[in-house]
Amino acid sequence: MPKLVVVNRAGEEKTVEAGAGLSVMEAIRDNGFDELLALCGGCCSCATCHIHVDAAWADKLPAMSEDENDLLDSSDHREATSRLSCQIHMTDALDGLKVVIAPED
Ligand code: FES
Repeated sequence: MPKLVVVNRAGEEKTVEAGAGLSVMEAIRDNGFDELLALCGGCCSCATCHIHVDAAWADKLPAMSEDENDLLDSSDHREATSRLSCQIHMTDALDGLKVVIAPED
């Protein structure tokens, strides 16, 4: 099962199992990180699942949609590697992916 490395807002790092096919958002939420609100449940309409992807992984991810891009623009904490975690689905190729939960807007 692919592994996902998550850094919370306190800077604590934890490696979790992320079943292939699960979104990164689901994998984070299902492993007890309650600071990732994911209010819309993964419909790409809230931006409360914002993460910063480790730079080493940024170009290995699928391209973002226009909707995701627009939503990220609404965040004060957008960075070059910002993504919405509900829009990235885990695969074996993403084993070891590292993400940081973005500050709350
Ligand atoms: S959970 Fe709402 S945009 Fe990702």
